[in-house]
Amino acid sequence: MLILGGATQAVNSFAGDVRDGLGKAGQKELPSKYLYDDIGSALFEAITRLPEYGLTRAEERILLEHSEAIAEHLTAHGMAVELGSGSGRKTRQILEALARHKSMTYCPIEISSVALASCERELDDLAHVSILGFETEYLDGLSKAVALRKPGDAVVVLFLGSSIGNFDRGPAEEFLRKIRQTIEPGDTLLLGTDLEKPLAQLIPAYDDSLGVTEAFNRNLLARINRELRGDFDLSRFEHVALYNARERRIEMHLRSVETQTVTIEEACFTLGSDETIWTESCHKYGRNEPEEMAERAGFKCVAQWVDVEWPFAENLFVAV
Ligand code: AVJ
Repeated sequence: MLILGGATQAVNSFAGDVRDGLGKAGQKELPSKYLYDDIGSALFEAITRLPEYGLTRAEERILLEHSEAIAEHLTAHGMAVELGSGSGRKTRQILEALARHKSMTYCPIEISSVALASCERELDDLAHVSILGFETEYLDGLSKAVALRKPGDAVVVLFLGSSIGNFDRGPAEEFLRKIRQTIEPGDTLLLGTDLEKPLAQLIPAYDDSLGVTEAFNRNLLARINRELRGDFDLSRFEHVALYNARERRIEMHLRSVETQTVTIEEACFTLGSDETIWTESCHKYGRNEPEEMAERAGFKCVAQWVDVEWPFAENLFVAV
């Protein structure tokens, strides 16, 4: 696999984003994309196998059962661009089905080089699929990938696993609009969205008994220590997963257990006892909501598949 791009310009923005987020007067926050460094991506991969975290298995069931049906809608497609491929495990089914109609170029877009490499190992053996990875952010990777499409080939954008749930609702729709502006009419978007479900099912998925999600969350502080010479004492922060009913999302926070001061590259930040740093949002959707969002962004819904065991929807949209 060929890997294009690199992470050099990312270091400065990490430092700047951490400084801004921890320097906020009100709720301190850190952008969730920084959870997904090589260690964080490995921990997230472990999360997807936890008994409490049904989301990934729900999507795998849908893709296993309906890949042929999905591919029937995409017979003119010669390129699949995946935003945040992770390990690529759940992409195998859909790529196999697509490649039965037409040989495919598969472009995983990833900010973690380790995840990108494991994606290659996972999917390297697929017949009639050539892999061209981009180590960069979503929209940058998407525009670079579509620029390489062969004439006459349609593109399917894969945005799986409810990663869109990391965005607030307004920005999520804006992001769909930017995807739409980067692709052409007739191109498609396969969008995975986690649906609203009972809290008894939802909360343990983000606060598992083994503590993997806690480690995933606290790795962000460890990463700041590693990369930005921070001095966070991880034992003085607790993992918090709460459901914000008004915004219909899980929020992950790190709660300071006492008043403390941390230093990051000469800058000092004070956290009060019980003050939190907000690290991730995971929005949950009503069943018709993905379609409504996508239509306002310039797509038309082709089909939706829903898992019954763990409410999750796979949505297929076409750019109009
Ligand atoms: C990668 C955003 C889909 O929202 O479930 C899982 C992230 N964070 N456990 C999710 C996550 C903690 C995950 N997404």
